[in-house]
Amino acid sequence: MEDVRTLLNLVYILSAVTFILGFKLMGRPTTARQGNILSAVGMAAAVVATLMFPEVVRYTYIAAGLAIGAVIGALFAFRTPMTGMPQMVGLLNGFGGAASLLVAWAEFVAHPEQPIYQGIIIWLTVLIGTVTLSGSLVAWAKLEERFIPTKPVLYPGQRTVSILLLAAILGGGIWFALDMNAPTAAQVLGAVTALAFVLGILLVIPIGGADMPVVISLLNSYSGMAACASGFIIQNNLLIVAGALVGASGIILTLIMCKAMNRSVANVVLGGFGADLPGKAQAVVGEIKPVKPDEAYLILEAANSVVIVPGYGLAVSQAQHAVRELMEAMEKNGTEVRFAIHPVAGRMPGHMNVLLAEANISYDALVEMDAINPTMDTVDVCMIIGANDVVNPAALEDKNSPLWGMPIIEAHRARTVIVMKRSMGKGFAGVENPLFFRNNTRMLFGDAKASLQALINEFKGSGN
Ligand code: TAP
Repeated sequence: MEDVRTLLNLVYILSAVTFILGFKLMGRPTTARQGNILSAVGMAAAVVATLMFPEVVRYTYIAAGLAIGAVIGALFAFRTPMTGMPQMVGLLNGFGGAASLLVAWAEFVAHPEQPIYQGIIIWLTVLIGTVTLSGSLVAWAKLEERFIPTKPVLYPGQRTVSILLLAAILGGGIWFALDMNAPTAAQVLGAVTALAFVLGILLVIPIGGADMPVVISLLNSYSGMAACASGFIIQNNLLIVAGALVGASGIILTLIMCKAMNRSVANVVLGGFGADLPGKAQAVVGEIKPVKPDEAYLILEAANSVVIVPGYGLAVSQAQHAVRELMEAMEKNGTEVRFAIHPVAGRMPGHMNVLLAEANISYDALVEMDAINPTMDTVDVCMIIGANDVVNPAALEDKNSPLWGMPIIEAHRARTVIVMKRSMGKGFAGVENPLFFRNNTRMLFGDAKASLQALINEFKGSGN
């Protein structure tokens, strides 16, 4: 029996190694796919190994859970469009939290006669798991624009209420852990669960607008921490390692995103992004100058260098293949074409990279924000396709703008700017974009794919 255990623990160690190597490979676009496969193989091996532990006595419930979970998971995955990924990730984080919460409750119900430290871990898992669950549900509703306003919901005494709730949860935790066998222990843990549920809601409703991606990433980290804590409860080494990896990587991603938006984590979590600001945002000056595809073609045809800024609208209109075709037509015409990638363009980390990779656009043509901005003054045409917030100069120029301080792709510094979007509609953060009114900006209105197709036809018609 001990030999089997040793062997299975060895599989765990190998799985942990595949997770770490997988992360390393995922750090570069060219090796990301291998990293994903390697980690998935490691996870499959870990699941099989776990099922072979002698503690597993009956497989019926496990098989039923696997079947139901697989069907629901597959349905979700097939039905969710690429643009709905953040909501999906948000919901999955919540399920992760819920799973840890259930593990903690199950362990308490099955073995109430346990030492204090075990009580503390159960309480901690319930707390983090429940906050992750309710916080993720709110984040999902906000991103889906259902049930809850997308804008931050602020109310007086918000922080005081959260602190009082946390204090009550802490008090409940001490009471619970001191004697898990007491007749009231289940009620106390029930109260802690309910309060933690409310706390999760209250922590996420004041956050909104462009801060939502950061919240999703933070909740992802919480779900990892909850899993790690539940690993301690059931003494499963791999759950501890995998949970810690998710927890740590979620925090790192959160910090990277905060840096990309020039905000601190505390500022995001306590913030109220997009809520009414005390000062008034600067009035937008200038006038809109719409162009037709044939006029835009003439500008592009004469350009030596073009920078394309893709955004959420490119994903909505599924115009990635059309943009590659236009890129090829312009390159054939002797124009240098580069893509400027903003870290939070679209609706999920790496959204634009994934989209452009799907159309086989070379990674060499993609340039990060920090590298492209110093060259912007020398760019003939900056073509913005379905992007808005990530090129909004108010982030640099207007202290009263909700976007103030967020680094942007400085499209406005190019000689000519062509903006492709359907209307004067606002972006995710819901703020006006003065770029559209600038002297050097031309608006090419229409669905991104249709406009790109019209431009491609112009290039073809001219023999290029
Ligand atoms: P947004 O600021 O959201 O702007 C997208 C623009 O695309 C809209 O103004 C819209 O204008 C246009 N559009 C929509 N459908 C279109 C179509 N079919 N054809 C042409 N244009 C279309 O996008 P962005 O610049 O990529 O910025 C991303 C924003 O989302 C940031 O505020 C970011 O913080 C936030 N966010 C990011 C993430 C991550 S991690 N990337 C996750 C959640 C939120 P019209 O309606 O006029 O067409």
